[in-house]
Amino acid sequence: MRIDIITVVPDLLKSPFEASILKRAIEKNLVEIHLHNLRDYTTLSYKQIDDYQYGGGAGMVMMIEPIDKCISKLKSERSYDEVIYLTPDGDVLNQSMANSLSLKGNLIMLCGHYKGVDQRVRDLFVTREISIGDYVLSGGELAAAVLCDSIIRLIPGVLGNETSALTDAFQDDLLSPPIYTRPSNYKGHMVPEVLLSGHQKKIDNWRDDKALQRTKDRRPDLLEE
Ligand code: 6GU
Repeated sequence: MRIDIITVVPDLLKSPFEASILKRAIEKNLVEIHLHNLRDYTTLSYKQIDDYQYGGGAGMVMMIEPIDKCISKLKSERSYDEVIYLTPDGDVLNQSMANSLSLKGNLIMLCGHYKGVDQRVRDLFVTREISIGDYVLSGGELAAAVLCDSIIRLIPGVLGNETSALTDAFQDDLLSPPIYTRPSNYKGHMVPEVLLSGHQKKIDNWRDDKALQRTKDRRPDLLEE
């Protein structure tokens, strides 16, 4: 998989790919991340990429020309499965969206900033609009990092067996059951007996019960789908 991320703040997107699982996925050549600074694609003085909005109102709007130049250059080099615009008014990210995006080959992610992009960018170039939740971030960069993480960890070979994505919360529309590690007795607080029993069938049943109970208590909406 190859992901091209278009942003005015490439620095915000460096560190998430320089540690832990995402770093290892890149080192194993399972994914390539390419950051593109939108200011490299403007022909205007002071590397301007935004301007006042027609009709008046507070906040700057990202102009179409540099975005067109950047996306057109990328598309002239290879074909893309999706051009994703990260925006708070997009479809809210969930596990099934991450699952289907993890099967794609080449993705472009466009990070919105200020008031967002000129509507013509969305009409002409964008194939999907994604939000990571109902709250406002300063820009799409951290949302792009979240989206990338949710996708990349699902690519076969990225996670080892011990952290298989198949056992994640949400993969079966359930939250995860409680988990424990050593010591079995911490200042009198005990690990549930069944987990120490060695009886795998009982353990599996206990985990299924707890996962279902936790989902009923905390996220009943997941059970309605
Ligand atoms: Cl994708 N962008 C911004 N600016 N804020 C958000 C978001 C995206 N998703 C949730 N909040």
